[in-house]
Amino acid sequence: MMIDKLSQYVYGTTRLGDESLAEQTRIETALHVMNQNIWIHTCHKYGNSFEILRKAFQQEPNKIPHIIMKIWGNTKQELVDGVQENLEALGVKSLDMGQLCIGGEFAESLAKGGEALQALHEIRDSGFIKSFAYEVFPWTSETPLQALRNGNLDGIIDAFIFYLNPLQRFAANELWNEIQKQQFPIIALRTVSGGPVHKLRDIPGFAWVPYLQERAGEVAPIFEKSNIDTWTEFCVRYAFSFLNVKATVGSSGSIERIQDFLKHTRDIKPLSQEIMNKIGSLQYHWSDTVDIHAEPWTM
Ligand SMILES: NC(=O)c1ccc[n+]([C@@H]2O[C@H](COP(=O)([O-])OP(=O)(O)OC[C@H]3O[C@@H](n4cnc5c(N)ncnc54)[C@H](OP(=O)(O)O)[C@@H]3O)[C@@H](O)[C@H]2O)c1
Repeated sequence: MMIDKLSQYVYGTTRLGDESLAEQTRIETALHVMNQNIWIHTCHKYGNSFEILRKAFQQEPNKIPHIIMKIWGNTKQELVDGVQENLEALGVKSLDMGQLCIGGEFAESLAKGGEALQALHEIRDSGFIKSFAYEVFPWTSETPLQALRNGNLDGIIDAFIFYLNPLQRFAANELWNEIQKQQFPIIALRTVSGGPVHKLRDIPGFAWVPYLQERAGEVAPIFEKSNIDTWTEFCVRYAFSFLNVKATVGSSGSIERIQDFLKHTRDIKPLSQEIMNKIGSLQYHWSDTVDIHAEPWTM
């Protein structure tokens, strides 16, 4: 299974697409990441990050990392065509893990073990996409829950992938409970939820949406009481306090912060049960009162 090869820290490539940073600096950041022997997470929508990655890959073709990439489609052909186009842009031949961003009939067919399941097996058997992770959000949790309960993800979906950090747990409560009951593997997105908790709480506009600022206000005292030195360490330990979390995906344009993510994903100590219970109660509450009522894609 590809999931067994995953690095515990996966570099998220959004910051490589920030054109306010010099191109050469971003290429150097990409090359730095490639030297760490870790996976990367990417998507063709992250600014011009693909151009940066392509240039870095051309410079060091033997160091091209394993890639998780977001993929879309309502049929086998659409999925394959989309990936083909993106891989050509990157100059890469096959994809290590496709992050299924699916809904509608395709997701329902997968839940029932229908044609979609067959399509995923065929794609994987062809070797073009070597494995799949299933992306979920609070507002898309129902169909994956049916799929999971029906056992139709076994042997084809390596992991669920969703925002999982102290301020966001983006599998709705019922799906979350089932994932935990089955101990289905998870890839946790947005390691530090966008930055240090005090900045999210105190600097107007630092949190891109108001609910994150409010949550930072609720979680900051728990973080302070923990006596853990940095928010990055707290967040990495939070993610890996769940035994089924296989990796956390965080981004930075700064080599120093990338090193920080890496440092904290070595010899990880879980957080105390008391802290996990406190954050867990908040997350159950946030999920039911806010997340599942949100206008899709506004969080
Ligand atoms: N649906 C999806 O598939 C989905 C959605 C969102 C994200 N993702 C993936 O997850 C990755 C990470 O997501 P993310 O970037 O939203 O979350 P993140 O890793 O939690 O946050 C990274 C951001 O926090 C900033 N930051 C970190 N430490 C800081 C500090 N001490 N002071 C100020 N800023 C600090 C970084 O800025 P600097 O660059 O300045 O360090 C960067 O902008 C993405 O790159 C992407 O690959 C996937």
